[in-house]
Amino acid sequence: MLAYLGRPDLISFAGGFPDPLTFPRERASALLREFAASGESTAFQYAPTRGLAGPLDAIAGRLETLQGRRPADDELLITSGAIEALELVGKSFLDRGDIVVVEAPTYLGAIMAFRSFETEIVSVPLDDGGLEVDELERRLSDGLRPKLLYTIPDHQNPAGVSLLRERRRRLVELAQRYGFLVVEDVAYRELSYEDDAEPSLWSLAPDAVVQAGTTSKTFFPGVRLGWAVGPADVSAQLVAAKQNTDQCAGALGQRLFEEYVRRGWIDEQLTMSRSLYRRKCDRMLSALERWMQPGIRWTRPRGGFFSWLTLPELLDAADLTKQAVERKVAIVPGQLFFADGSGAANVRLSFSLVDETLIDDGIERLASLLE
Ligand SMILES: Cc1ncc(COP(=O)(O)O)c(C=O)c1O
Repeated sequence: MLAYLGRPDLISFAGGFPDPLTFPRERASALLREFAASGESTAFQYAPTRGLAGPLDAIAGRLETLQGRRPADDELLITSGAIEALELVGKSFLDRGDIVVVEAPTYLGAIMAFRSFETEIVSVPLDDGGLEVDELERRLSDGLRPKLLYTIPDHQNPAGVSLLRERRRRLVELAQRYGFLVVEDVAYRELSYEDDAEPSLWSLAPDAVVQAGTTSKTFFPGVRLGWAVGPADVSAQLVAAKQNTDQCAGALGQRLFEEYVRRGWIDEQLTMSRSLYRRKCDRMLSALERWMQPGIRWTRPRGGFFSWLTLPELLDAADLTKQAVERKVAIVPGQLFFADGSGAANVRLSFSLVDETLIDDGIERLASLLE
C-alpha cells in the first residue's frame, strides 16, 4: 500500500493518509519561530513519560468538551500515536494464547499489533450499525472469554460504519459483566460530517474502557502524537510499558499541539478538514452511483476516510487489486482487514488522499474492470 502511494501515475484509493491540504504549515512554522524566540526549552527537551503537563491539560480539556468527561491526572497519558497505545496495551496485558476479539473487518495495524504478542484473534462481524453486539453476546454466553476487545466505533477503518448508540451501551455492559477490557480506537471520531456524535465508550464506562486517540488525522501525522485514557491502574501499566518503549512522546509535537488547541486553531482546522473530506466522500459516492454495476454494494460513511465495497461472490479482491494497478488505480483488497483471511469479496476505498478531480476517473476505471 505504501509503495502504491509513492507512485504518482496511480489514482490511489489505497492509503488512509490525511490530505496534505489540511497540514497547518504556516501556523506550525509560526509556533516554531515563537518557541525559538522566547527561549523556550521544554519543546526541545525530553518529556516526562506520561507527557508534559500543559499538553496533558489541553488533551484532558478536549476530552471534556468533546466527550463530556474530564480524565483524572492518573488516567491519561500521551503516546507516540494511537498505534503506540495499542502496542502498550499489548505489552502490559497480553500473553501468549490470550483471546483478543476484533471486528471483522478491522484496522490492519491492530491485527498486526495484537498478533505480535502471540494471541488468539477472534473476529466478530460488523454490519451497517457497527460491531454485531448480539453475536458477541451469543459467543460470550457460549463460553468465549476474551482478555480484551478492540473496536473502532466511529467511522470505522476499513468499513466506514459507526456503532449504533444502543449497541454502545450493551457492549460496555458486556465488558463489565464478563470482565474484559474494551480498547476503543477513536482515530476518526472528530472527523464526523455531522454534529450529532454518539457517546464514546470510554465516557460510558471509564472503568472498563481504554481509549486510544490520535492527532494524526486532525493535526498532522508527522508529529506522531496520540493519547491513551483509561482506568488509573491500567494507565499506570501503560506508563510503565512506555518507560521501556520510547520513554516519552516527542516534546516538540506535544507543545505544538498544545498551542494549537489553546489558540482555538484545532477547531478551525477541523471545520475545514471535515468539509474537505465530506466533499471528497460525496464525490466518490456519486461516482460509485454513476459507474458501478448492479450487484456491487458499498457503505455510505458519515465521517472519516473510507467506504467498503462488497463484490459479487465470484470475484476475488486480490486479483482485482492487481488488475486495477495495470489500469493505474490503487485499491486495498479486503483480505488485509480480516484476521482469518476472509474478505475476498471486499475492497477498501479511501478518499482522503486522492486528488479530488481524479475521483470520478478512478472509479470509472475500476467499474470498467469489474464489468
Ligand atoms: C483505526 C486506526 N487507528 C490508528 C491509526 C494510526 O494512528 P497513529 O498515526 O496515531 O499511530 C490509524 C491510521 O491509519 C487507524 O486507521
